[in-house]
Amino acid sequence: MTGHALAMAALGPASALAVSTLSPTAVVLIIICVIGGVFLLLLGNSLRRSRGAARTPAPAGDAAAGGTPEKAPAPISRRDFFRGGLLVGLGAFLASFGGASLAFLWPNLKGGFGSVIEAGSLGDIKGFIAANNQPFYYGAGRFYIVPYHGDGTNTVYAGITAENLMALYQKCVHLGCRVPFCQTSQWFECPCHGSKYNEAGEYQLGPAPTGLNRFKIIIEGDKVLVDTSNIIPGPPRGTNTTHQSPEGPFCV
Ligand code: FES
Repeated sequence: MTGHALAMAALGPASALAVSTLSPTAVVLIIICVIGGVFLLLLGNSLRRSRGAARTPAPAGDAAAGGTPEKAPAPISRRDFFRGGLLVGLGAFLASFGGASLAFLWPNLKGGFGSVIEAGSLGDIKGFIAANNQPFYYGAGRFYIVPYHGDGTNTVYAGITAENLMALYQKCVHLGCRVPFCQTSQWFECPCHGSKYNEAGEYQLGPAPTGLNRFKIIIEGDKVLVDTSNIIPGPPRGTNTTHQSPEGPFCV
């Protein structure tokens, strides 16, 4: 379960709606603030009680005896000892939970999924696609780079293609399975429930609600960059800018 999901499960439906609109970073900061606030509240309350107990006047017998009441350090009661131990343990647990959430949700800014990824050189990628008759797959970035010669470059895919290449998110838009490319049909075919997409990732068959999501491609010199920080929703059902029929038997 992701940090988002944890947060949404812990909150009510209305709050979950608000959380779903926040960035992961904001969710983490909110979680840490809440955790820190609860911890400080408990700690403050405990300290206040301890001081109150320490200020309790000495028994009347001391004063009556005429002696000066001695300021002996208040002994730590068993209850205070357990309360302190509980607070320390709780603080350690919450700190580790907050740290783990932060590490899990913090975007990977070193070339992993969630950042702008250098997929390779334009020549190498185009050469691979031509030589193998299949898209270029980049596992660490969770995307395929497909050749695109359809008529949506300036409409439905405006601004996200470059040099006749387009980047598709590998995740099926039905329930999230990784969608492999079928060499014989030259379509993407999901093994989980049979959704099928043409080579441009446009919906063709099965329960998927739309075409595959995608990422923007950027060409810098000879470098092909894919911006995985922004998932671009797939085109709606009925979009067919390549009119590509299956080119052989299906794999699924
Ligand atoms: Fe791909 Fe269901 S997850 S068709």
